[in-house]
Amino acid sequence: MIEDQILEIAKQAALEAGKIVKKYYLSELTLHSKGHYANFATQADLESEQKIIQILTQNFPNHNIIAEESGRVDKGSKYSWAIDPIDGTIPFVDGIPTFGVSIGALKNNIPIIGVINMVAINELYFAQKGKGAYLNGKKIKVRQEGMLENCTIGLDLGHTDRIMKLEKFFRPIVEKVRYAYLFGSAVMSLCYVARGMLDAYIIRANVWDLAAGVVLIEEAGGKVTDMVGQEVDFAEGKPRIICSNGAVHEAILKIYNR
Ligand code: IPD
Ligand code: CA
Ligand code: CA
Repeated sequence: MIEDQILEIAKQAALEAGKIVKKYYLSELTLHSKGHYANFATQADLESEQKIIQILTQNFPNHNIIAEESGRVDKGSKYSWAIDPIDGTIPFVDGIPTFGVSIGALKNNIPIIGVINMVAINELYFAQKGKGAYLNGKKIKVRQEGMLENCTIGLDLGHTDRIMKLEKFFRPIVEKVRYAYLFGSAVMSLCYVARGMLDAYIIRANVWDLAAGVVLIEEAGGKVTDMVGQEVDFAEGKPRIICSNGAVHEAILKIYNR
């Protein structure tokens, strides 16, 4: 079936890109600005993305591409690839191992396949809609924690408007949970929710940051919605979403919709 093939090729691309990223990790890197002092790409981002696109287009020449560094190629297909060649470029250049390569596939704008290669810690996460979520080949499940006070969550500040995000989006929840982590990448929090090490993650981000991780969380038994509990519209430029273990989802929605 085509979706089994999509998963296999996504894994291959994430592993090959991971080799490139690993080669550059902990070396001296030149930063290419993307217009804001906190937003830049390195040679590793660019080479990783080129390798991923090369592998994907060799195998699926008619699929659309949404890639962080090189942009969109719309071929009118129902399948689109969402590619983040390094999610967590800031930790990557700092030598902190919370970055990863993220490759998601969407069918009619719904994420159906996700592969995340957490290069520095040798963890390959993958999931296919209806077929479960895996870490290094072993099935993973979200945590069954329904009490906010026992939950740990991931936060994310992005590159801009950080004080606004702290005040508006994180203040209402941080005092209610056991702890809030900030890993500097979306992928780390998404993988940890799927794996049952965090209970929730709230973020506004692009489809390339989220598509793969969303499939992981849903296939691990968790829940992903927009801020009012509706299905996320990934055709929208930058959705704000709540990802959770499912058990605590309603309690989080209540905080944001009082
Ligand atoms: C960023 C990371 C970060 C998040 C930003 C993203 P990048 O991705 O996921 O955690 O706060 O919003 O843009 O730029 O490292 O690929
Ligand atoms: Ca990213
Ligand atoms: Ca990136």
